[in-house]
Amino acid sequence: MTKVKTVFVCSACGYQSAKWLGRCPDCNNWNTLVEEAQVRESRPSRYQFSPASPPQSLLDVPTSEEMRQPTQIKELDRILGGGIVSGSVILVGGEPGIGKSTILLQVSNKLAASSQRVLYVSAEESIRQTKLRATRLGEIPKNLYIVSETNVELIAEYIKKYSPAIVVIDSIQVMSSPNLTSAPGSVSQVRECAAYLTAVAKSSNIPIFLIGHITKEGFLAGPRVLEHMVDTVLYFEGQRHTSFRILRAVKNRFGSTNEIGVFQMTAEGLVEVNNPSQLLLSERSKKACGSVVVPCIEGTRPLLVEVQALVSRSNLAMPRRWCSGVDYNRIALLIAVLEKRVGLNLGSQDIFINVVGGVKIQEPAIDLAVALACASSFKDVPVDEESVVLGEVGLSAEVRAVTQPESRILEAQRLGFKHCIIAKNNLKDLKTKFEIELIGVETVKDALEAALKR
Ligand code: TYD
Ligand code: MG
Repeated sequence: MTKVKTVFVCSACGYQSAKWLGRCPDCNNWNTLVEEAQVRESRPSRYQFSPASPPQSLLDVPTSEEMRQPTQIKELDRILGGGIVSGSVILVGGEPGIGKSTILLQVSNKLAASSQRVLYVSAEESIRQTKLRATRLGEIPKNLYIVSETNVELIAEYIKKYSPAIVVIDSIQVMSSPNLTSAPGSVSQVRECAAYLTAVAKSSNIPIFLIGHITKEGFLAGPRVLEHMVDTVLYFEGQRHTSFRILRAVKNRFGSTNEIGVFQMTAEGLVEVNNPSQLLLSERSKKACGSVVVPCIEGTRPLLVEVQALVSRSNLAMPRRWCSGVDYNRIALLIAVLEKRVGLNLGSQDIFINVVGGVKIQEPAIDLAVALACASSFKDVPVDEESVVLGEVGLSAEVRAVTQPESRILEAQRLGFKHCIIAKNNLKDLKTKFEIELIGVETVKDALEAALKR
């Protein structure tokens, strides 16, 4: 007889406890522990295609290049570091409705069209629904196989029988392992199924895409532990109601991270955007106060984004501070620098900051642009529309050098900007001759004078 034991598992981090706790001792979140039934005696066995290989000297391991299979979607290939590595497990996360199923169906379509067998496990939607969607995305190739199944052991059997070039699991949250009694979507099920499928991928050398939904709080519903198990983690960013989608690699064992791919959702599915800077700036209103363009680097690619600020007198005792696309604490710091070092009286002002297009910028090179956007809106003087602004801001209002200045400046030049306000320290390392006028500044005050003169 199997003995069922219940454990309490944290839905945020996967921590397990024998008794219920109000607060998770691991991630300190309140009320995240949920009860789950676990079969104690029959630990599920890991799936194996071939007998386990004995340990060998690392020296003797052959160092051939990993086999990479291009997805034929250029933006996706770049994020993956050149293509899908055989035997790798790739997690594609994002909010519901953002386009995860769409892009993987497109990849499946393309690979199957080049006479490779693809297995699409559509456990969330019916096979008919998926067919309807695939019809919208173009001609359906013969080699695209679809199955509606949630039992991972059966799926492993199908993989063994059909030996496809890639497998897509849509989604990992509805998968279940017959060895566990808990409901699909629970922490233990998601983790167990992911571990099982990872073992299948490794032993069969077949790459598997896992689709995972993200909750409102921003973590993959269920456990974050999935991130540690897989080789590559890709997240969809962007707002569902706009057509712009950004796919970002946050982890990649076979390539660089923080590489992004830019897509647009159209009636024919996701379409690559070849010139994202131009698209991001397409709706920019010239001569607007509080709008500044900054060349950021996302992974290896320069990207021009528009930072907007609105500074208006507040009626509240505690003026509002709101930002989207940039780090809130960074904004607080920049506002303090503007108050204390530049002498702007922002204490009684509501301040709203937005990076256009739903892009999230994490690098400090955006600092000076944020500071200038605030000052421009506060003073009601527009920043010269043909200028881009580039620099990190230090606590004493000094403007610091940024990394990879040349590719940023080239991108601004390519899109027809005439002036670039940049840290003086960056100027001495530049080897290329640029047509764009470079204005070196040392402090935020200098930058303000250069940018706000009309
Ligand atoms: P979907 O891939 O189903 O999202 P997810 O799998 O991440 O939950 O995307 C669904 C959205 O995309 C839906 O709102 C409709 C839209 N869409 C298009 O605009 N064009 C298309 O060709 C397709 C297939 C979907
Ligand atoms: Mg879906």
